[in-house]
Amino acid sequence: MRPFIRTLALATGLAVAPVLAVAPPADAASTLRSLAEAQHRYIGTELTGNMVNNATITSLAGTQFDVVTPGNEMKWDTIEPGNGSYNFGPGDNVVSFAQAHAMRVRGHNLVWHAQLPGWVNSLPRNQVQGAMEAHITTEVNHYKGKIYAWDVINEPFNEDGSLRQDAFTAAMGTGYLADAIRTAHTADPAAVLYINDYNIEGQNAKSNALYSLAQSLLSQGVPLGGIGLESHFIVGQVPSSMLANMQRFAALGLDVAITELDDRVPLPASSGNLQQQATDYATVVKNCLAVTRCPGVSQWGVGDADSWIPGTFPGYGAASMYDNNYRPKPAYTATATALGGPPPGGGGTGPLRAVGAGKCLDVPDSTTTAGTQLQIRDCSGGANQTFTLSSSGALSVYNGADCLDASGRGTSPGTKVIIWPCSGQANQQWAVNADGTVTGVQSGLCLDVTGASTANGTLVELWTCTGRSNQQWTLG
Ligand code: G3I
Repeated sequence: MRPFIRTLALATGLAVAPVLAVAPPADAASTLRSLAEAQHRYIGTELTGNMVNNATITSLAGTQFDVVTPGNEMKWDTIEPGNGSYNFGPGDNVVSFAQAHAMRVRGHNLVWHAQLPGWVNSLPRNQVQGAMEAHITTEVNHYKGKIYAWDVINEPFNEDGSLRQDAFTAAMGTGYLADAIRTAHTADPAAVLYINDYNIEGQNAKSNALYSLAQSLLSQGVPLGGIGLESHFIVGQVPSSMLANMQRFAALGLDVAITELDDRVPLPASSGNLQQQATDYATVVKNCLAVTRCPGVSQWGVGDADSWIPGTFPGYGAASMYDNNYRPKPAYTATATALGGPPPGGGGTGPLRAVGAGKCLDVPDSTTTAGTQLQIRDCSGGANQTFTLSSSGALSVYNGADCLDASGRGTSPGTKVIIWPCSGQANQQWAVNADGTVTGVQSGLCLDVTGASTANGTLVELWTCTGRSNQQWTLG
C-alpha cells in the first residue's frame, strides 16, 4: 500500500509527507504509550520550563507518553501572580504540545500552600475564599475541555494526618476542601477532580486521614473524583501496602492515579540500585494494572536530567526511566514489560534478516564510512551483516565500532538508517520486539525496507509502523 501511495504521489506531484504522516506515533509497536493503551491505561510524564523547547525531550515525550502534567505552569504563582491578573502563556504552551501529540493533560494544581503568591497570604481572612473561588473558576474555565483531570487540592495533610495549616484553613477551616472541589466542578463538570499528596501510597496515618476525608466529602455529595498518589519513592521502599491502599480508595468509587512517580537512588547510581529501581517501577505499574480504577501512571520528568530530586535531596538522583542523556534505563524496560511488552531482547548477535525480502541488513561494500545508509542484500554471513544487540539497545556492527543510527536524530518517516560511531545516544537505541519489528526508541518508528522492495541494494529507513512484512526482522 505504501509504495503505491508513494509512486502515485510522485506521479501526480502530490505532497507526500502530509498523506503519509497520518498515523500518530502511538501506532508504533512497543512504545510505553501503545503498551499502556492496550491495557486501557495511560502512561504520563511531567514537562516543565524549557523542556517543551528541547527536541530530544519532546520527541521522547510525544512518542512514549500519552499524558502530560505541567510541572509548574498551572500553579497559582504562575497563573495568577497578582490579584486578578492572569498569565496563561506557559500553561497554554504545554497544552499545545500535548494536543499536537494526541496526549491528555492533568492540570496541576489549583489550591496548594506552596508556590502560592505572597498576595494570597497577605489577604484579610475574609477575602481568601473569594480569591480562591475566583482563581479556580478563572483557571478551570480557561482550560475547560482541555484538561482530563485536575489536582484541585495539592498536599493538604501533615505527616501525622492533621490538616496542614495555611491561608485556606486559616480562612475557611476544613470547609475549603469541599468548596474548592465544588467550584472546580461548576467550571468544568467533565474534568475528574483529585486530591493529590505524597507519602499516602501505603497505609499510614496520612493516608488514613485522607481516606476518612474522602469518605466524608463523598457523603456530602462533593464531586471528588480521584486520589493522586504522588509516589516519590526511595529505591527499594515501595510500600508493601500500596496495592491494598489503592484498592480501599477505589472501593469508595474513586479513581486512584500514580501522579508523580520517581524512585531516587544514592549517587553515583550502582547497577544493583538501578536493577532494584526497575523492580520498583514494575511493582508500581503492576499495582495500577491490578486496580480497575487506576487510570494510569505518570512519571515526574522525562529523564534524570529533568528531575527535581538532586536539587532537593543532595546525594540522590537517577530517579527516572531515562538517564541524563535520555537513554532508557532498566526501569524503562521493566515498565514496558510490566505493561505487557515483549521481554528485553538484549544479547543477540548475528544477521538481521529482513523477513519480507528474505535478505539481510547489510553495510554496503563493507564500508566503515560514517553516514553510509544501510541496505538489504543476499545473506553472506560477513562482518558487514553481523549485528549485536546490547542490553542498552544499541545495534552495533564491526565488533562494536559502529552502530545503527537514525540519521540526524530524525524522528520523521523517511529518516535514513545509517552507520555511525557508537555514541550511546537515543537515536542509536533500538527495541527488537516480539512482533518482529525493530523500533527506534527515540522516534518510535519502525526499521523499514523502502518501498517493500525485495531487490538487492534496497535502502533501509525509518517509517511509521504498519505491521507489514517489510518491517519484520529476525536477529541471529
Ligand atoms: O523560576 C524561578 C527562577 O526565576 C529563580 O531564579 C529560581 C531560583 O532557584 O527558581 C525558579 O523557580 C523554581 C521553580 O521550580 C520553577 O522552575 C523554584 O526554585 C523551584 O523550587 C521550583 O521547583 C518545583 C517544585 O515543585 C516547587 O515546590 C519543581 O520544579 C516541581 O517539579 C515541583 O513539583 C512538585 C509538585 O508540584 C507537587 N509534588 C512534589 C513535586 C516535587 O517537589
